[in-house]
Amino acid sequence: MCGIIGYTGHRPATQIIIEGLKRLEYRGYDSAGVAFCLQNKVHVFKSQGKLNNLENKLCSQEIYLTTTGIGHTRWATHGLPTEKNAHPHLSQNKRFALVHNGIIENFKELKHYLKDKGIQFNSDTDTEVLVQLIFYYHEQGKSILDAIYETLNQVKGSYAFALIECAHPNTIWAGRHSSPLILGIGQGENFIASDIPAFLNYTREVIFLEDNEIVELTPSTYQIYSLKNKKGISRKVTTINWDIQSAQKSGYKHFMLKEIFEQPKVIQDCLRGRIDECENTVLFSELENFPLPARLNIVACGTSFHAGMWAKYILEQIAHIPVEVDIASEFRYRNPLINKNDVIMVISQSGETADTLAGLRLAKEKNAKVIGLCNVVGSSIAREADVVIYTQAGPEISVASTKAMCSQMIMLFLLSLYWGNKKQLLTPNFKSQYIAHLLELPEQIETNLQIFHQKANHLAPKYSWANSFFYLGRGLNYPLALEGALKLKEISYIHAEGYAAGEMKHGPIALIDPQFPTFALAPEDELLPKMKSNLEEVQARGGKIIALTNINSKLEVDDPWIIPNFKSPFISFLILPALQLFAYEMAVYLGKDVDQPRNLAKSVTVE
Ligand code: F6R
Repeated sequence: MCGIIGYTGHRPATQIIIEGLKRLEYRGYDSAGVAFCLQNKVHVFKSQGKLNNLENKLCSQEIYLTTTGIGHTRWATHGLPTEKNAHPHLSQNKRFALVHNGIIENFKELKHYLKDKGIQFNSDTDTEVLVQLIFYYHEQGKSILDAIYETLNQVKGSYAFALIECAHPNTIWAGRHSSPLILGIGQGENFIASDIPAFLNYTREVIFLEDNEIVELTPSTYQIYSLKNKKGISRKVTTINWDIQSAQKSGYKHFMLKEIFEQPKVIQDCLRGRIDECENTVLFSELENFPLPARLNIVACGTSFHAGMWAKYILEQIAHIPVEVDIASEFRYRNPLINKNDVIMVISQSGETADTLAGLRLAKEKNAKVIGLCNVVGSSIAREADVVIYTQAGPEISVASTKAMCSQMIMLFLLSLYWGNKKQLLTPNFKSQYIAHLLELPEQIETNLQIFHQKANHLAPKYSWANSFFYLGRGLNYPLALEGALKLKEISYIHAEGYAAGEMKHGPIALIDPQFPTFALAPEDELLPKMKSNLEEVQARGGKIIALTNINSKLEVDDPWIIPNFKSPFISFLILPALQLFAYEMAVYLGKDVDQPRNLAKSVTVE
């Protein structure tokens, strides 16, 4: 999982490439590099660490002379994150340079094959076999395009790549299989990148390349070819209507904070066009011809998985649809018992998560129907699902997912109302109340976010000493407890465990002592008496407690965090940002890199 970009046009290429890489840094940031052709030579600059290390190296005059080049920002999969393993990689004759996102699964066999032919390797990466194999076939007399065909036909795994060769200083070749790649079409300039923000300052006209497609780009032309039959393909150009500003920080200290504060707007965007206020019904035109699921399997990873777990409670309660929720990396290998009558829903912000995509493909192999709940338009999951429902969260840049979960929960809630209504389970009174609540939600959350932020800011120094945290909840608050713990550990590096509160006494409570605080999700609902008993058990062992609760719950804990008394499930949309803000403030207080936590990347396109 890395970010790649290529530019060919009339402007100094390296500046455009560096600017693009900054927008792709969320995809990986352990090393970076650029390559371009000048005076019949390929020039490569690479550096370990973040992009500014690379920028510091780019001080030679030559870099301003080139108008074509490729760049890469890396998240290591094969080979340590060192300069040697940073992309671009060169062919043995140093005339080809290539950047790659993905994993070449059979790279060891290919490396042996090439080594036997006398080719020497300079890195530990899987990527290097791509450029060496293309070079090898070119040496055998094949054109560059034919050398690419030959290479890709031998490669197993996933790739999006961009390639330059010094005899053709204004041409870029690129291709994809199971990794994203988008072509940007400008006036006298063309772009290729892993994601649209990389070139959105220059063009809004894009083509989403499909799997097994190759493209040859010059400043004034682009030609797409099919890898299967080498024939030229024409593809529809899409105009992107979102703005680069929406992918930037707008004055917030971090993208994560900006994205937490965007949640009221996200809910509004998700509701737009979905509610018929006259009929008090929810609209999903995408599902008009889709069967009503008798049962539903939800498949997702990480935060999206937590949204799926949350939805299980809602869908079962409101739409009476039995729901099974699977972690995608388990689902894909457990030979799930599904058939053509089953409906699988895959949830993914990026739409590119390798395990979730594999789950989708497995479901399709078994002829099940697949609904994709995705945020990124044109992503692999969006394209491969039978029906796609977009979550409308806008670009999420912070590695820690926040607003995407909110958008997933809203869409899943709407779906439960949609299916519940189709099954005639909802009374007119229920529908009108729920829809009125939903429409009020953005404003109600807006008025609370600032107060929550202050509370989180006040609590962080008080609890920053903790090495571990429990997050406890029951019912709908159990998946939210899991999410609270995930947010805390991924950005503050404090160990945290989410538990169903009733499960504590079956083992975990042994850990409680005055050094091991608990974050309780204890709103005033029918499960509050049970929660109270669980919290007393924690207090009896000297455990400190922060509790998200309501004024009338009369919880006596170290730090009650009083939130408005919304009824379930609406209160989840208050609990979620409170958890996110607490994790955020803890990480900021501890001086962590909030938007780019160590060892993580935004879009997990490898297993
Ligand atoms: C956590 C986080 C990850 C993602 C997971 C799935 O903050 O961002 O756990 O939720 O990698 O990603 P998507 O939703 O893109 O499939």
